[in-house]
Amino acid sequence: MSEKNEQSREELLPGDFMPDQPMLDHEYDGIREADNPLPKWWVNLFFVTILFAIIYLPFVHMFDFLPKDYLKRDVAYATMLAEQREAELIASGAYDQDPVGAGKKYFGTFCVTCHGSYAEGGIGPNLTDNAWIHGPREEDIIKTIVNGVSAKGMPTWGPILGERKIKMITAYVMTLWNQPPPAGVKGKKAEGEAFDMAAIRATVEKAAAPDTTAKM
Ligand code: HEC
Repeated sequence: MSEKNEQSREELLPGDFMPDQPMLDHEYDGIREADNPLPKWWVNLFFVTILFAIIYLPFVHMFDFLPKDYLKRDVAYATMLAEQREAELIASGAYDQDPVGAGKKYFGTFCVTCHGSYAEGGIGPNLTDNAWIHGPREEDIIKTIVNGVSAKGMPTWGPILGERKIKMITAYVMTLWNQPPPAGVKGKKAEGEAFDMAAIRATVEKAAAPDTTAKM
């Protein structure tokens, strides 16, 4: 840019036009419109968007060239991987050797939303205290989990989880008595009838421990 041009630019006030600017032939209350060409990059970008639309429209909306159900396929794939991993763990016998550990894992997946990470209670009752609404014994707990309590919001887990998983989850739930949550996490107050848990768990542990895996 020449020095002269530079200077005339500096002398311009807002609303003034460059002296050599092409002007359109109209004026409204003293406002006039310059007729500068649009920047090249902008015009090219505009053509690119038109081209994109011409390609995109038939491919995606008319001929289904791109899959629309990719989310469904991702979820199906992830589920398949999880099931495979699960099958491997079952086949390796890891779950049978450690039913309580397996049950804890399942509890973390299916139960903590309502019963809390430490089974301290939330929407559902506290599972670590002496009080039980539906009974503290193994057979009571299995029955509650299998059938659920639909009126109170406890899902019917039987058809979802199956006998094997429910047995493992029950084995874990039976270890929870007298396991208060860590400091800072408040357990839900007792609900239902109070039981002599020390006596109940002591007999259960002696009687059931050797054949927990055999029964599965
Ligand atoms: C959607 C919330 C919800 C989920 C998820 C849930 N529960 Fe429950 N659960 C409840 C509610 C609510 C009750 C209380 C039922 C009642 O008041 O009769 C309950 C009750 C129970 C009881 C009986 C407690 C007692 O005092 O007798 C057990 C045992 C239990 N749940 C275990 C589980 C297990 C194991 C899982 C995971 C497989 C699970 N729950 C998942 C809501 C849930």
